[in-house]
Amino acid sequence: MASSPLPPGSTIGILGSGQLGRMSAIAAARLGYRTHVFGPEPDSPGMQVATAHTLAAYEDVEALRRFAGEVDVATFEFENVPLATLEALDGRVPCRPGLKALSICQDRVTEKRFLAEAGVPVAPWREIRTESELQAAIAEIGLPAVLKTTRLGYDGRGQAVLRRPEDAAAAFARLEPKPLILEAFVPFVAEISGIAARGLDGAVETYDAIENRHRHHILDLSFAPARLPAAAAEAVRAHVAQVAAALDLVGVVALEMFLLPDGSLLGNEIAPRPHNSGHWTMDACLCSQFEQHVRAVAGLPLGSPARHRDAVMHNLVGPEGLAAWPDMVARRDVVAHWYGKAEARPGRKLGHANRLLSLDSLASLDKAAAEGF
Ligand SMILES: Nc1ncnc2c1ncn2[C@@H]1O[C@H](COP(=O)(O)OP(=O)(O)O)[C@@H](O)[C@H]1O
Ligand SMILES: [Mg+2]
Repeated sequence: MASSPLPPGSTIGILGSGQLGRMSAIAAARLGYRTHVFGPEPDSPGMQVATAHTLAAYEDVEALRRFAGEVDVATFEFENVPLATLEALDGRVPCRPGLKALSICQDRVTEKRFLAEAGVPVAPWREIRTESELQAAIAEIGLPAVLKTTRLGYDGRGQAVLRRPEDAAAAFARLEPKPLILEAFVPFVAEISGIAARGLDGAVETYDAIENRHRHHILDLSFAPARLPAAAAEAVRAHVAQVAAALDLVGVVALEMFLLPDGSLLGNEIAPRPHNSGHWTMDACLCSQFEQHVRAVAGLPLGSPARHRDAVMHNLVGPEGLAAWPDMVARRDVVAHWYGKAEARPGRKLGHANRLLSLDSLASLDKAAAEGF
């Protein structure tokens, strides 16, 4: 397997063809690469811009083998690609990141264990297989607490906040698949994320820490840089760099964190891929998270993550996002991105808008935060 950079004209295979695959494919094209996306949904955002696509189920081993034969390197755009899918490619084409990163991040229990081992503090948690384990964990951890599925959760799906002991039985019965995880409720003052890229040569670059606000459990706004004390902002970079190295990652990784009232940070979850809270980097950094991912996967040197503007990213979600689009695309202070999804269903991320602010102007970030974009 070649570890020298892929020459221009080579083909990067991407498992998954949503907006992350689409934006990665656009970044790859700028560097002279072809892309081949693999996914089960026709006319999906990634397929609309990739050079080639395979429309097939992730379980279709024959289609995966053909795909492996047509690409020079493979990556994935979401961490719920079945492990067996990567295994089917293994040995046929380099996969970056590889099975290790994917398997750790698919399961909240292995993820929490990994974070602690990598030196990132996490809130107390217990694995829950039975209702009596849940009762015992509540006695130890206390309430409120958050009960989550260990697998396949996203945008707040697959979780329940337990406030009173009576909430436990119904939440346990409802949440599937088992096992579950119980986490202490973190009384955070802000949600923060860190994003790092790690190259094939092991070099790591980190972006400025990001402050995230959610609406109906879906990311609504990301502020970059996060309004944090310098020590906390540095800690975010250090933690996500530790995670990238400990995962042996080649590619981009995001670490979601909670900021506590005393300024300390707790790790929440890891995404071994470009992350929604990093979309501002497309317009406010020299090298975006998508270009960084492509560079890593292709074995190129990483680019500069330097921020040349402050930024606020606003997700355009569902019918409201569709209604906001004409205004966003008309604004002179906004760079607007649309993903080409067929339907504006509620809760679906259809696009995002990056509002650019002057560099290092805390007052303009504060004003944007107060105005809500
Ligand atoms: N232990 C916790 N304490 C307080 N809030 C939490 C906790 N876990 C999750 N949340 C809230 O729920 C959101 C979604 O949870 P998360 O674990 O990030 O799952 P996902 O993003 O995969 O749906 C978080 O961004 C945070 O707002
Ligand atoms: Mg999350």
